[in-house]
Amino acid sequence: MARFPGSEKDDGDAPARFRKDPDPRFWRMNRSLPFDWQLAPYDLLQSQAHARGLARIGVLTEAEAEEIGAGLERVGARIEAPGFAFEESDEDIHMAIERLLGEEIGALAGKVHTGRSRNDQVATDIAMVVGAASRRAMRLCAAAMERLLALAESHVDWAMPGYTHLQRAQPVYLGHHLLAYFWMLSRDARRFDFAAESASVMPLGSGALAGVNWPIDREIVAAELGFAGITQNSLDGTSNRDFVIDYLSAAATCAMHLSRLGSELVIWSSTEFGFVELDEAFSSGSSIMPQKVNPDSAELLRAKSPRVAAAHQTLLGVMHALPLTYGKDMQEDKEPLWDAIATVESSLEMTAGILEGIAFDRERLEEASGDEMLAATEVADRLVRQGVPFREAHGIVGELVRDAIAADVPLSGLTPEQIRQRSEVLGDEYYEVLQRGSWLESKQIAGGTGSAPLAAQIDQARTALAAIHEAAGSA
Ligand code: ARG
Repeated sequence: MARFPGSEKDDGDAPARFRKDPDPRFWRMNRSLPFDWQLAPYDLLQSQAHARGLARIGVLTEAEAEEIGAGLERVGARIEAPGFAFEESDEDIHMAIERLLGEEIGALAGKVHTGRSRNDQVATDIAMVVGAASRRAMRLCAAAMERLLALAESHVDWAMPGYTHLQRAQPVYLGHHLLAYFWMLSRDARRFDFAAESASVMPLGSGALAGVNWPIDREIVAAELGFAGITQNSLDGTSNRDFVIDYLSAAATCAMHLSRLGSELVIWSSTEFGFVELDEAFSSGSSIMPQKVNPDSAELLRAKSPRVAAAHQTLLGVMHALPLTYGKDMQEDKEPLWDAIATVESSLEMTAGILEGIAFDRERLEEASGDEMLAATEVADRLVRQGVPFREAHGIVGELVRDAIAADVPLSGLTPEQIRQRSEVLGDEYYEVLQRGSWLESKQIAGGTGSAPLAAQIDQARTALAAIHEAAGSA
């Protein structure tokens, strides 16, 4: 079997330098085509731009460049056609495209690799992939943020308990809680934007490692391929995969955020909490228990996050201590990247879907947030207003809480005598503070849950969202 394409030798097997075919046990591992075929559209565009670059310096005639361009176009169509299959002997997508181009235009195909190595070629393809994926992720973040903002606006004054340690802590508005996720995703979008920027520098022209012998105008090629600029060091250009790591880092953080949302939805949709119901379209039944509606979508959001983090970790591992420049190690950049792109994109898409059909239970949320224990800090702050140092106030209210638990009454069920026993300065205002609602509106500080800062936050969120839309551009 001819495993090396493009061989000039009669036996059709190994390229000239080799006398032996690769061992199948090596070939199986060395062959990246099973996963790098996805680079085809980028590789084709790149080769077309490269051919035009060669024509501009007279290495190819205009007619040759055009014939190569048209041939590559036909190769693209063939690859996309149903039933198309690569050859077992195609090592990777770059060699496969060159072979297919040869089938289309004959020996001329052999000229397209002038002034280029697969090392700068693959780096350029991957940078294009990361740029496109980063902008897609930004748009998907924005779509989920859109849903969160709309939900925050429609639940702006729904009280709910806020938690620390998953213990009821202080009441907050549901709108405020939802916007916490909005801000996480807005930071994710900015991280994806950074990944796009780090992928916006074209390596092509770096050659195998030292640069190439042909004075191709790299700036023109870069502009044609949508890059903002060119790499300044050919060694760095061929050995750099920071942009992959930057994307994976953004993706890992984003998936972690979605896992926290997923986790809350799982907890909130339990009968014990009963805060939320997921749309049936995002739930599954049980194969044995007919009554069950399980929050599988939210559970999957929760569980997808570690594999994205693992992809990031894998790339850091692959690149760790790798001597300059290219090493075959770097071929291992692709599968983790593909997996992370698919995982984070489908997670973001599903998040938007979950949020579209979500239904909160106002009564349950109100009831849970009406727990007077949540006002303990309010009482302490009232004592502070009367001149009691906060630490002391904290102790007094702690005692009142203990008294109430011992008497099996809510905080407001303590008698004026019981209260005076604990503090001289606390009178009727104790009962006033325990009036519901005041605990939320007492948080008037910027970034707090009170209605006025929450309204200001919603304005800020709208501005932030517009900026992300602007930076991500349209498809
Ligand atoms: N399939 C290779 C990769 O994905 C392409 C670059 C091969 N370069 C080389 N020097 N063998 O990394």
